[in-house]
Amino acid sequence: MSGPSGPGPALFVASRLLESVEAELASAFETVFAEGEDPLAELAELARRSGGPDAILVSLDCPMRAEAIEVLPGSVRALATYSVGTDHLDLEAARARELAVFNTPGVLSDSVAENALFLMLGAARRATESIELIRSRRWTGWTPTQLVGVELAGKRLGILGMGDIGGRVATRAQALGMQVLYCNRRPLPASDPIRASFGVMPAFRATAAELVGDCDVLLLACPSTPQTRGIVDAALLERAHPGLILVNIARGDLVDDAALVDALRTGTVGAAGLDVFAGEPKLEPAYYELPNVFMLPHVGSSTIEARLRMGRILIEALRSWSQGGQPPNRVV
Ligand code: GLV
Repeated sequence: MSGPSGPGPALFVASRLLESVEAELASAFETVFAEGEDPLAELAELARRSGGPDAILVSLDCPMRAEAIEVLPGSVRALATYSVGTDHLDLEAARARELAVFNTPGVLSDSVAENALFLMLGAARRATESIELIRSRRWTGWTPTQLVGVELAGKRLGILGMGDIGGRVATRAQALGMQVLYCNRRPLPASDPIRASFGVMPAFRATAAELVGDCDVLLLACPSTPQTRGIVDAALLERAHPGLILVNIARGDLVDDAALVDALRTGTVGAAGLDVFAGEPKLEPAYYELPNVFMLPHVGSSTIEARLRMGRILIEALRSWSQGGQPPNRVV
């Protein structure tokens, strides 16, 4: 896809990206960038006027459900998402439409793992209350009882979803002196490259319930699927040790918000570090009021390094695909 293969452009970019990323895309392909609020209408118009593109690039702000996929211009044969998550795409509809789908695994894992540590530390050290106290100019000076949090050293971190991101959090947590456990559908096979990064191999737990019962900090790092949606519910939280720190870097819909709010109020969950929310950017209103919630507006991969790499991995994938290759980040 080094230039247009038909009458239209090679690539239509539906989401706004950093200028430097847009520049790299534009120098790799003949590219049209959406300009307004309704990129898919612009795409349809482009196809009517001058032939459609070979590929489109979207992100979380431009979900591609079945209805959107079914009406894509006939020229479009590939869909690249500027994200690692694919839950905003209807992959079944993409498969039925014979669209090749690419995402951005691996290249944002360090950024998201660093954000997980930020959330864990912010929740453990009462960052919301500390920031509020100092910024409101109500701080009256050091006292031995002021804003006492908990240390992470010596605590047990349970990772639900030990993939590339979970693995990078695990190695960082081990460096902080934490003991790491994990729950996946099955134990990491001996050949899994993630294993090489661990000082000590994290212990496996077969179910989320077993994991929660055995940890002080629970990190959600698994994708949102029909099996994992709502996995953190009242029944799971009942198994937690009082004071559990819950951190979510994955997707908001893994958590039943009402159950978490209840647990944060009673102290079953001592604090939460949340980067993602069900129905974001609208959030469960109680989170704004709870001092033991340290929350961020979905910024896990929001670093310049990750953003540039995300663009580059999609450029490479589209190039390779157009030359008949099989890029490793092909999802469908
Ligand atoms: C962000 O949440 C992503 O899926 O890349």
